[in-house]
Amino acid sequence: MCGIVGYIGKRDVAPLLLEGLARLEYRGYDSAGIVVNSPKAGALKMVKAKGRVRDLEARVPKRFAGTTGIAHTRWATHGAPSDVNSHPHLDPENKVAVVHNGIVDNAAELRAKLEAEGVVFASETDTEVITHLIARSQADTLEEKVREAVKAIDGTYGIAVMHADFTDRIVVARNGSPVILGIGEKEMLVASDVAALIAHTRQVVTLNDGEMATLKADDFRTYTTSGTTTNSTPETVEWEAASYDMGGHDTYMHKEISEQPDAVDRVLRGRIDDRFNTVHLGGLNLDPREARGIRRVKILGCGTSYHAGLIGAGLIEGMARIPADAEPASEFRYRNPVVDPDTLYIAVSQSGETYDVLAAVQELKRKGARVLGVVNVVGSAIAREADGGVYVHAGPEVCVVSTKCFTNTVVAFALLAVHLGRIRDLSVTDGKRIIDGLRKLPAQIQEILDGEEDIKKLAAEFAEAKSMMFIGRVRGYPVALEASLKLKEISYIHAEAYPASELKHGPLALIEPSLPTVAIVPDDDLLEKNRAALEEIKARSGRILAVAHREQEKADHTIVVPKNEDELDPILMGIPLQLLAYHTALAMGRDIDKPRNLAKSVTVE
Ligand code: G6P
Repeated sequence: MCGIVGYIGKRDVAPLLLEGLARLEYRGYDSAGIVVNSPKAGALKMVKAKGRVRDLEARVPKRFAGTTGIAHTRWATHGAPSDVNSHPHLDPENKVAVVHNGIVDNAAELRAKLEAEGVVFASETDTEVITHLIARSQADTLEEKVREAVKAIDGTYGIAVMHADFTDRIVVARNGSPVILGIGEKEMLVASDVAALIAHTRQVVTLNDGEMATLKADDFRTYTTSGTTTNSTPETVEWEAASYDMGGHDTYMHKEISEQPDAVDRVLRGRIDDRFNTVHLGGLNLDPREARGIRRVKILGCGTSYHAGLIGAGLIEGMARIPADAEPASEFRYRNPVVDPDTLYIAVSQSGETYDVLAAVQELKRKGARVLGVVNVVGSAIAREADGGVYVHAGPEVCVVSTKCFTNTVVAFALLAVHLGRIRDLSVTDGKRIIDGLRKLPAQIQEILDGEEDIKKLAAEFAEAKSMMFIGRVRGYPVALEASLKLKEISYIHAEAYPASELKHGPLALIEPSLPTVAIVPDDDLLEKNRAALEEIKARSGRILAVAHREQEKADHTIVVPKNEDELDPILMGIPLQLLAYHTALAMGRDIDKPRNLAKSVTVE
């Protein structure tokens, strides 16, 4: 959430930063702002606007020359979205500009102290505290001024600072919020996400917590907040700039849904060992003896990643016969859980940045637990904090709601389950059966995607619903949870998910013709039980859309999906429901890639 981009070099900075902000907008989009150095040194020029980056762009004057600048797109935490609360925040003399991601926990206390000293605040934000601290510092260098400020604040931050008296540099600092330097030819960039850098350079340096950097046009330097040089060397980013384009689709969500056959192919690539009918995962850092010693698996994640974790727990328990469950990371952190040395903890996160997941990982590590990460963004905070893990290789995901990362995360769990299973009780035959099933997934996903037109027709009908019910049993239940989340996130239709078996214990009271039910009905050992649930709904005149392996008589409509192995069916059954949510939201005219009140990665509590 919130995006930072900055540049120092020779180019006209405003268009470059606005383009960078547009690429970061998926991280937060309630207001935006930009500061550039004025060619007549001594003051900085700023434009800010509530709303989207395009609203900011409309306000930036034609002549807004400068070759150094910082910009920000915001997702409000302290202070409502407004022009004045947008970043950057300047001091009254227009000398210091700060953009900030994260939260200053002691902002109220520092604000009171500064106000007592006569400082007048322009905004309600916590960030403005940082601006005033830097502006009031008596230190000689910008680095020292920033260092004093970050020492005074508690909380999380990724900041970029410009100062009218030090126009040859941008100083940045990181604690808990990503800061990535982009190293160019006689130009340097900084951003909170490689998305804003990749059109200009693929050479990046990711700062660690407690690190700062000074960027000059032809040079960069990294050091700790206590001043020790850290000598970071640039790494090359794998992702292509084109991955951040819409590639002919109207929305990123549609593009990302349609990329799933290729994405799944990528997560499988190079990991299957046909000789032993098992799976190799290079980054796991778990030898077979250790794998045999695991007595429980606990999976932690938020939102869609939590749902992927629920399916993952089922896969691991089913194939490796290790008791496994998933829990929202935020809940786990706050209930003072018993941390057991024989439990394998797995943190799941697309971005690898979600604060609640990261905080859970840090708490677990502090207590001596072994933590693996199932993460999409290579080198992200959670990936680095974990003892090992599996990258899901979905490629960049830009739409706020997750589709291809969800699918790839579940496939990564299937790989992990085969790996652990084959070290324990999964037979050669079953290993082969699952591997063969995994290989079929890309073509089967494509087959489902080819049925998009039919799903679109169904969606037109559902766009009229005020509320919807999603039901599934055992493996189908997390599919129902995720489908209901997807629908509510982008269409704003109220949706609930229930285990089909729980229907008669309460939610059946809601069933009537105006409340449609989406039922997950795989051809597995629970088929008859699921059919009984359809009967119960039909008997109350409920409308039913079934996702099944064959037509369901009791359903008003059935989306028939290809059959795979029972264990892998949830992966396929979720796909048509991504399209259903998509087309329902589209029919309702929603802003699909940027749903209201949500952000792609939530780096605050
Ligand atoms: C936010 C997003 C969700 C996402 C969740 C976890 O809430 O809006 O779509 O599932 O964060 O994100 P992560 O990057 O950790 O998977």
